[in-house]
Amino acid sequence: MAVREVKLCLLGDSGVGKSSIVMRFVKDTFKEQLESTIGASFMAKRLVVNDNTFLFQIWDTAGQEKYRALAPMYYRGAEAAIVVYDVTREPSFDSVKDWVKELKRNGVSDMVIAIAGNKCDLEDLREVNTKDAQEYSDNIGAIFTETSALTAVNVSELFTSIAKKLP
Ligand code: GTP
Ligand code: MG
Repeated sequence: MAVREVKLCLLGDSGVGKSSIVMRFVKDTFKEQLESTIGASFMAKRLVVNDNTFLFQIWDTAGQEKYRALAPMYYRGAEAAIVVYDVTREPSFDSVKDWVKELKRNGVSDMVIAIAGNKCDLEDLREVNTKDAQEYSDNIGAIFTETSALTAVNVSELFTSIAKKLP
């Protein structure tokens, strides 16, 4: 049966957990002390959803400010983007809004955008309200979920919902 290749990129502030989400999805592992990504890293992962096989080609970008100018190389031509913030850091949610504006302006017109509030295992440290993030995502027509790369909650579900929403 045909395999659908899906080019996807992850964007978001440094330290929000982009690489950790990818590692959880691709290898089902988690590292307490993960090195900050340099430039970008690539991984591929197959996923079967409703008898359709998707091959995700995942570009995990670097969140550090000095790499920001590289991002267009990865989101241009991407059919899907996951914009990640850290539920314990409000400023990382403000950055989501900047990324979404940029994607709407420069990304493909039917790009599937997903907003992921990561580190939802750290409930005591939460700064970003679920309802606000859900409302924002609804308004821009994006998928919304809260994930934890640590506990694996909603990580594979995130990719499954993207696969289901692809045009
Ligand atoms: P850059 O590569 O610098 O852009 O950062 P990143 O977004 O890839 O973040 P990374 O995945 O490297 O995670 C940063 C730190 O947060 C790591 O030490 C992880 O162990 C930790 N972390 C990632 N996801 C979670 C999570 O869901 N829960 C908790 N408690 N910690 C997490
Ligand atoms: Mg990283």
